[in-house]
Amino acid sequence: MNDRFLRACRRQPVDRTPLWIMRQAGRYLPEYRAVRERVSFLTLCKTPELAVEVSLQPLRRFPLDAAIIFSDILLPLEALGCRMTFNPGPKLEEPVRTRAQVEALQQRPAAEAAPFVAQAIRMLRQELDGRTPVIGFCGAPFTLAAYLVQGEGKEGFGAVKTMLYQDPVVLEHLLQKLTETMIDYLRLQVLAGAQAVQIFDSWAGLLAPAQYEAFALRWVREIVAGVRDLNVPVIYFVNGAPHLLEAAATAGSDVLGICWRTPIDQAAARVGPSIALQGNLDPHALFAEPEEVKRLAEDVMARMAGRSGHIMNLGHGILPGTPIASVEALVAAVQEHGRSADYAPTPWAM
Ligand code: CP3
Repeated sequence: MNDRFLRACRRQPVDRTPLWIMRQAGRYLPEYRAVRERVSFLTLCKTPELAVEVSLQPLRRFPLDAAIIFSDILLPLEALGCRMTFNPGPKLEEPVRTRAQVEALQQRPAAEAAPFVAQAIRMLRQELDGRTPVIGFCGAPFTLAAYLVQGEGKEGFGAVKTMLYQDPVVLEHLLQKLTETMIDYLRLQVLAGAQAVQIFDSWAGLLAPAQYEAFALRWVREIVAGVRDLNVPVIYFVNGAPHLLEAAATAGSDVLGICWRTPIDQAAARVGPSIALQGNLDPHALFAEPEEVKRLAEDVMARMAGRSGHIMNLGHGILPGTPIASVEALVAAVQEHGRSADYAPTPWAM
């Protein structure tokens, strides 16, 4: 099995830097767009055969080192009784803003509310037959609350920040419920076969350090602790948060995923050697010419040379419209220059 992704998560020696790409199954792929012409995004997520098919699409094109199950961070919110649509961004039928609304949120078991995710993971594991590990994922409580309270994606997510000052107790109650639901949801995915999990905290960067500690990090710590006994690596991705890196590294995760705003060697120096890092090529860098993409990818790897535990990835999801040739250049960079200087491969272990 190709285990260099799992090995890098644990900061073990690898034959070369592993690569996967956030949102690797998505609209930059013509074969994904072809599936989406036939079915809605929600149908795609909820039909295991289709979810598995699009999870595999990027792996058929590129020799990536991990597959991520196709779904969305907002889907498990249906376990709380929330209804939503996607066009292409999410829109909640009703934003959750009052104490009564938070109290009314149900907490159905994930196995009941999202059985399709477990089924898709089982099928994906079977299809891959050990060739590539499968990553499960969830949203971090604050990021999920940002969408729930706002009712949709919106620059700055003012509604949840207003709630933080007006009604912190209600917000905490919401975060508590989300935390419990996400622990259950991640456990379901690991028991179905996910070999690593990633917690996406896309909007934690909107918080100042003290607020981040109280309204985001505290709950992420609980999620990490809540899946620890399952012994799979946990990746915590925190976006837009150069001011929070030291704190984010204390969530208890094995890997810290960082965005593109901090040079990765500086991030590494700040968080210390006891956590692996994932990232951090700017998604917009893939709009450069292939030769330049390669150079920029090599620059990220060079900054991590000699440090164990680097997973190559973008600093955020790959953008629609990204040229396929750029992804090929990124793959080539990893294959040609991702060999760790301090690792001599053992012939019998290859
Ligand atoms: O990485 C993968 O390949 C797995 C699939 C995946 C999707 N969303 C598919 C998707 C993952 C891991 C996510 C996570 C997700 N979803 C996050 C965290 C990562 C991040 O980007 O910060 C967030 C914040 C969401 C919420 C969400 N879902 C938004 C904001 C949008 C619209 C944004 C956009 O890209 O236009 C979605 C829709 C969505 N989720 C799409 C995909 C492929 C596009 C839907 C379509 O096909 O029309």
